[in-house]
Amino acid sequence: MNIDERLANTHFPLPAIREVNQSKHPSGISLGLGELKSFEVDNKIFDALKNSWNNGGTAYTQNAGLPQLREAVAKNQAHEDGYDYNQDHVVITIGVQNAIYTSIKTLAKLGAKRVLIPSIHFGIYKKIPAEFGLEVITYALKDDFSIDLEKLEKLICDDDIFILNSPSNPTGKVFSGNELEALSTLLSAKLTKGYAISDEIYSSLVYDGNGFQSFSKYFNRTIIANGISKSGAVAGLRVGWLITQNLQLAKAFTSNNATIISTPPTINQFAALPIVEGETRETIGKYNKILKANRDKVITLLEKLKIPYNSPQGSFYIFPKLSGLFGSRVKEFCLETAAKENGIVVIPGIAFGAPDYIRISLATNDIDEPLRRLEEAIVNYTK
Ligand SMILES: Cc1ncc(COP(=O)(O)O)c(C=O)c1O
Repeated sequence: MNIDERLANTHFPLPAIREVNQSKHPSGISLGLGELKSFEVDNKIFDALKNSWNNGGTAYTQNAGLPQLREAVAKNQAHEDGYDYNQDHVVITIGVQNAIYTSIKTLAKLGAKRVLIPSIHFGIYKKIPAEFGLEVITYALKDDFSIDLEKLEKLICDDDIFILNSPSNPTGKVFSGNELEALSTLLSAKLTKGYAISDEIYSSLVYDGNGFQSFSKYFNRTIIANGISKSGAVAGLRVGWLITQNLQLAKAFTSNNATIISTPPTINQFAALPIVEGETRETIGKYNKILKANRDKVITLLEKLKIPYNSPQGSFYIFPKLSGLFGSRVKEFCLETAAKENGIVVIPGIAFGAPDYIRISLATNDIDEPLRRLEEAIVNYTK
């Protein structure tokens, strides 16, 4: 077969998230969003964008990114975990997706063979390692979405890549200090040659509980992936980063990412500065207020309908279990409900490896009407 023939025979299946969004009726409303699209963007971000035009914004930056931004990221992370970072520990990327891609690409080239991901996970954790021929193994989560450490201990090998996501998409779980410490104890004994990749993209969006803690505070072989997509409500600016305490590894990330992107977009890196430097803190506080109020409204509905759930503390999702009502027809419910006139979009859990659940996004400024529609849809589908 030649290239064209192979291409003609290649199928590009739609991810479940896209499938549901595509089936949405024009009159439908979405609680499927993975971004704070309708939320106010802080003016300081726009000012930084504008100011960058006359300030080197249209030139290349270094491959590892804008030095001021790397320095600001390093300072923040030092505050999180106490390590003495500087800009050489930081590599700016095109969003967190690019950060995770490059870290896995680099570790694969350095000989990693297996990636451990949570059984309920953001989709790219599975897809990216597959591109580099790595084996993907899921580690079990308990019903409360915490990690089953006993099972993990039996599963993990010394040179694996271990992926952690807190606050989590889609569960909304924020791991406590005690949980991170227990995980670190296990990894320190078992993951002696491998690395943890900690996806901390929702670190600013914690609205309940004891707050966010970075896993690198507990486990120093942690590669941190973070960015501005969620904290700034600016997912389209595509700025993220990797941080590692290992300078040689940071150089490897830079080199491996340079062949993909050369450098991240300069103007957008300038726009990230006010977010990283804490100037948009007040706006982030407003986001968290809205998310918490929305979460409480969803919980009231779930209680009323007797649907089991764990109360999320961060990110902007809630992940209730619908299989008790719909058995194996949870995805079907999502597709049908999205396609109906005046319908509602929620994401089937199969998109995250958990077919019994649905993901409801809290990222909206008006959740009352969407929840009214969701209640009606669930009640009608149960009849
Ligand atoms: C857990 C998680 N990691 C990474 C990403 C990708 O982030 P970015 O848009 O910055 O590439 C997302 C986006 O939804 C996410 O939810």
